[in-house]
Amino acid sequence: MARDDKFASIIGSEQAEPANIVIFGASGDLSKRKLLPALAHMHRWNLLGPHSRIIGSVREDWSKSHWVNYVHDQLLQYFPDAILNPRSWMRIADKLDVVNGDLADPEMYQRLAKVLHSENGKKNALFYLAIPPSWYEVVTKNLKDAGLADESEGFRRIVVEKPFGMDLSSAEHLNASLQQYFDESQIYRIDHYLGKESVQNLMVFRFANSVLEPLWNRNYIDHVQISVSESLGIGYRAGYYDTSGALKDMIQSHLLQVLTLVAMEAPLTLDADDVRDEKLKVLRAMRPINAEDVDQIAVRAQYSAGKADGVEIPAYRDEDGVADDSSTETFAAVKFHVDNWRWQGVPFLLRTGKALPDRVSEICIRFKAPPQTLFDLHEGNVRNNELIFRLQPDEGMLLSMTAKQPGLSTDLRGVQLDASYGMAGSGMPEAYETLFHDVLLGEAGLFSRADEVEESWRIVEPIMQEWAKQKNITTYVAGSMDIEGMDALLDECEGDWRDLSSTNG
Ligand code: BG6
Repeated sequence: MARDDKFASIIGSEQAEPANIVIFGASGDLSKRKLLPALAHMHRWNLLGPHSRIIGSVREDWSKSHWVNYVHDQLLQYFPDAILNPRSWMRIADKLDVVNGDLADPEMYQRLAKVLHSENGKKNALFYLAIPPSWYEVVTKNLKDAGLADESEGFRRIVVEKPFGMDLSSAEHLNASLQQYFDESQIYRIDHYLGKESVQNLMVFRFANSVLEPLWNRNYIDHVQISVSESLGIGYRAGYYDTSGALKDMIQSHLLQVLTLVAMEAPLTLDADDVRDEKLKVLRAMRPINAEDVDQIAVRAQYSAGKADGVEIPAYRDEDGVADDSSTETFAAVKFHVDNWRWQGVPFLLRTGKALPDRVSEICIRFKAPPQTLFDLHEGNVRNNELIFRLQPDEGMLLSMTAKQPGLSTDLRGVQLDASYGMAGSGMPEAYETLFHDVLLGEAGLFSRADEVEESWRIVEPIMQEWAKQKNITTYVAGSMDIEGMDALLDECEGDWRDLSSTNG
C-alpha cells in the first residue's frame, strides 16, 4: 500500500468543505510547531478542500509576502517535506493570507471580515485561538461584534487550547464568556491527547470487540495505571508551568480524559454528545476527595538537578523564571476511584512528571491473578495479565500473558501479543491533524465539552487546595523515578508500578 493510501485509510479520506482557517497567534510557538505543519500535511493528502485558505492573524505589520516567507521558514524547520516539492509548496503558498493588528482592536476584525468575504462561495470559518486564554473573551467578543459568529453564510467554529481555567471558578467563568458569544456547538476545546491514535483506538478496541466486555469490570480488572512520563524538564515554559504544576497541567485534563475513555459505558451512538454524556457520567461517578485524605491518595514531588535521557537538567528551582522557593510539583500521582456498578473497588492510578528517565506514555489495564496458584506467577518476568495501550513511543497495544517455557520442565515465561502500529506498517497522522480534520467536518466527539471540563476541576480541586497549603515539597533527582510515597498508592493493588523504561514491554 502506498503511504498516501495508508494515511487516507487511517485518517479517513473524507475531504472537508472548503474553509477559511484563521489562526490567531499565527507567529507563536504552537502555530509554527504544530498547526502549520499539521495543515501542510493535510493539504498534502488533499484533506483541506480545494478553496480553503490559511489566514494568519498577527500583531506585527506583516505583508502577505512576509507571512508566506515566514510559513516557508517554519515548515522548513518543522515539516521540510511540505516544501521539498516546489509545486506542492506553491499550492500551499497560494492558500496563505494575513491580517495584521491588535487582538483588542475591533477594526482588525472588520478587516478580517473583508478578507473572509473576498472569495466567492461558502464563507465557512474556523478560528483557532493559539493565544493565551486571557485573550479568549476579547477575541470571541470582537468576532461576534463583527458578525463573524453568525452561521448564516457557512459554519463558524472556534478552537481553544488548554488551560481551560486554572480552577473550577475560572473555568466556569471562561465557559460562560465563550458561550456568551458562540453557541456550545461552535466551541471546540482541544485536548490533544484525544487526537492520539492509541487513545482513539481504545474506544474502537473496547466497543468493536465482544471478547473484552465480559472482562472489563471489577470482577477481572485489579486496577488501571495511566502514566505519562516525560524526560525533558520544563524548558522555557516557567511562566506558565510555575503557576500550574503537574496536577493542573496534565492530570486535570489529559489523564482524566483518558480515564473516562477506559471507564465509560458504550455510548448509544458515536455522536459527539452521546460519547461526551458517557464520559461525563464517569467523571460524576468519581469518588469525591476529602481534604484529610489527600496525603493518602496523592503524591507530589519536584525535580532536583540530574540527567534525564542523556541531558543535564538543572534543579526545577534553578530553571529560568522559576522562583527560588517554588513549591510547584513537577511530578504528581493520584489514586482515584470510580464509584459505579462496573468499577467499584478498582483503583485508577494516574501519574505524570517531567525530568523522568524516559518519554513513555501508556495505559495499563492490570487483570487479577488467577484464583488458584498452581504455578508461581511471580517467578522471573511472569506477572498478572496486562493489556497495555502505548501512547508513545511506538504506539500500539500489547497483551501480556503467561505461557510455558518450551522444554521438559514446567517453567513459565511472560509472552506478549504485540500489536504495535509500527509492526502494522501504517503511517499515522499527528494528533493535531486528526483534530483539525474533525473540526472541519464538525465532529466534536474528540473535544471536551464545558461540563466535562468543569467536572474535572471539581475532582482535583481538593488536592489543589491541600497542596497550596504545603510550602515544602519532596524532591526527586532528575532522570530518576525514585519518588517518595509513590509505592504507598498501590496499597489496594496487585503488583508494582509499571516499569516505564522504553524497552520494557
Ligand atoms: C501539554 C502540557 O498539554 O502536553 C505539557 O502542557 C506536556 O506540559 C504536553 O509536555 C505533553 O504532550 P505530549 O503529546 O508530548 O505527551
